[in-house]
Amino acid sequence: MYQTIGFIGCGNMGTALAVCAKKSLANSEAKLLFANRHIEKAEALAARLGGVAMTNEVLAARCDLLFLGVKPQFLKEMLDDIAPVLAKRTDRFVLCSMVTGVTTERLQTLAGGEYPVIRIMPNTASAVGAGVIQICTSGTTETELAEFKTLMAPAGLLDELPERLIDAASAVSGCGPAFLCLALEGMADGGVALGLPRDKALRYAAQTLLGTGKLAIETGLHPGVLKDQVTSPGGTTIQGVRALENNCVRAAFMEAVIAAYERTEALKKNT
Ligand SMILES: NC(=O)c1ccc[n+]([C@@H]2O[C@H](COP(=O)([O-])OP(=O)(O)OC[C@H]3O[C@@H](n4cnc5c(N)ncnc54)[C@H](OP(=O)(O)O)[C@@H]3O)[C@@H](O)[C@H]2O)c1
Repeated sequence: MYQTIGFIGCGNMGTALAVCAKKSLANSEAKLLFANRHIEKAEALAARLGGVAMTNEVLAARCDLLFLGVKPQFLKEMLDDIAPVLAKRTDRFVLCSMVTGVTTERLQTLAGGEYPVIRIMPNTASAVGAGVIQICTSGTTETELAEFKTLMAPAGLLDELPERLIDAASAVSGCGPAFLCLALEGMADGGVALGLPRDKALRYAAQTLLGTGKLAIETGLHPGVLKDQVTSPGGTTIQGVRALENNCVRAAFMEAVIAAYERTEALKKNT
């Protein structure tokens, strides 16, 4: 199992994955190391999870698994700093990139060597064990991948995917929490408009979102079938469905996913 696990970039996603790693390592001697541009963030995370904060360079020299959690536009600058450190290493290490739109090949080029890479596409729900992480690899052993999956198991669903599909998956589940939060907020606002207290309206809407996802996964039924089960002839729900269809809600979600994908493609040109 990985013994020294480092996180460069302690923002939203890096923190969520560090929380997962911490859960897996509850009875382990493995160490967690943290680095961040503003070191206070790394120090706060180290204090919260039990670990040590340090510079990118020191961390890059020590870890056998190194998570890269900076925004795509800062990746080159960060890798320029640590590439000389990685080049001097003679021991084996694995780079794990969560950076949207950066291929394993591009990452290896920027990092300065054909190092083993695990590329993942996580989402923020990983922090609460209900996330999705798509995985593809380059140059890793089966053991390294298996141990990585064990480490990240507390995140939720882990799924291997060919690299050519990772950006599409990113637009669905990486960006998805933001899209569904709009639905959540809108439904809660509707409840508030009808007189429900804000906290209750939000709780009811969130639990409904969670439950509907669980229902779809556990029954394996098509969403259209699940919808039909709730819409009795001449009833109330079908009138709500009519209102949503009048506002092209399904087309809007489809467009959102495709727009996110197109933005990934555009950003690739800058990384
Ligand atoms: N958020 C998501 O839902 C999500 C989903 C899938 C994939 N991702 C990917 O995850 C990565 C991180 O996203 P995020 O949402 O966590 O962003 P974020 O909250 O902005 O976190 C990025 C962190 O990287 C730090 N950083 C920037 N440059 C650095 C450098 N040279 N050295 C060390 N640390 C540096 C930033 O520090 P400062 O704050 O001090 O500037 C910040 O704490 C991105 O590549 C994104 O594409 C995110």
